[in-house]
Amino acid sequence: MTEPFDPDATLIRVLTDPACIPDPYPLYNQLRDHAPIFQTSVTGTWVVNRYEHAKAMLRDPRCGSGAGLEGGDRTAIDGSSRRARTGTLSMLFLNPPDHTRVRGLVARSFTPRRVEQMRPEVEAMCDALLDDLDGDGDFVDKVAFPLPANVISALVGVPEADREFLRPLIYDLGVGIEPTASDDEIAAADIAGEEITAYVVDLIARRRADPQDDLLSGMIEAKDGEDKLTEDEIIVNTLLIYAAGFETTTHLLGNTVRQLVAHPDQHELLRSDRSLIPGAIEEVLRFDPPVQMDGRYVFEDLELGGVTIPAGSGTMTLIGAVNRDPDVVDDPDTFDVTRTDTQVLSFGSGIHYCLGAALARLEGQALLGRMLDRYDTWKIVGEPSWRRRFTLRGVEHMHVRLS
Ligand code: HEM
Repeated sequence: MTEPFDPDATLIRVLTDPACIPDPYPLYNQLRDHAPIFQTSVTGTWVVNRYEHAKAMLRDPRCGSGAGLEGGDRTAIDGSSRRARTGTLSMLFLNPPDHTRVRGLVARSFTPRRVEQMRPEVEAMCDALLDDLDGDGDFVDKVAFPLPANVISALVGVPEADREFLRPLIYDLGVGIEPTASDDEIAAADIAGEEITAYVVDLIARRRADPQDDLLSGMIEAKDGEDKLTEDEIIVNTLLIYAAGFETTTHLLGNTVRQLVAHPDQHELLRSDRSLIPGAIEEVLRFDPPVQMDGRYVFEDLELGGVTIPAGSGTMTLIGAVNRDPDVVDDPDTFDVTRTDTQVLSFGSGIHYCLGAALARLEGQALLGRMLDRYDTWKIVGEPSWRRRFTLRGVEHMHVRLS
């Protein structure tokens, strides 16, 4: 007799068993297919894993950030530690109308034009890092880790001389968002947050005195009528942009290399047709998403797929399960760079949809393009080692040989 499916046990394995990190997808598929919406008895959180339901939940005005509410603390990607979460809040933790106001003001300077203008600079950064890797070495240390850190520093307006000093701090900051982060890691994230804040306060003063064409100067000057961002809002959202845009993109770059090495036929297609590059990055985001979880706090009873999630509940969705929902994508477990118009939740959905999606895509496309131009043969030497992380999943070290 087969055992009945146990969604709680499966979820716990996915969240806590390091052996599941390299390939959680078979378990995700089981959860989505056998228990599309269920309440876990471990924390009381509702788990929502079908695309249609998860998208509806992320977009529903009855759901939002529960930061600061009883039972409403939720993991999110702004790197603010547990201690800091009840303090100054970045846009990720705000609900309308505050979210609308702050996101609107930040988005005035974080424009698609500013991102697209960075393309030649990002390509030059890719080349410099690939030169340094010299075809053999740790891809994460040498390329996937420094590229997004340098790109965000350039976007924000951090002078090149200060970027080395900031890189390890942003690394520590990002750890604060994991559901299983240790107290030591939370403490390190707090210290990093304080050091970056001190740095940003000083940089704001310099930009006020001498504005430049960068995001920080843009945030200082952004106006809606008489409304402007306060100094605290500029600081906390700069920290958010660092935390949200750094390790996420590192994993996108690492996943791109892993998937193309694992699927030589797809690599070959790209080698012969560079117009497939944007679609290849979309497929990596779908098939192997860097952010594995999103969630909301439910303010009013919410009906989803015939189930009522009561007001006051927390929800979570496993993005890797949703992106392989056979109701919205054909043959979901196949990695296929020629797909078009895939429906995914890799960047979230609704009012909190990733503000940096265009920048992340640009980095992925630029690096993939430069690697295809420079190297015909890509190899991974030995087994990559994984970050022991669930929300931001990716490799920590990966030795590559490119020729
Ligand atoms: C592949 C890389 C990335 C992935 C997978 C990713 C994923 C996400 C996801 C899933 C959310 C939604 C969170 C929610 O619903 O609560 C989000 C929000 C956000 N992301 Fe990204 N992100 C990436 C890169 C970036 C970059 C490069 C930046 C900036 C430089 C950035 C800035 C943000 C910001 C500011 C938000 C909050 C938006 C809001 O609350 O309105 N992200 N991201």
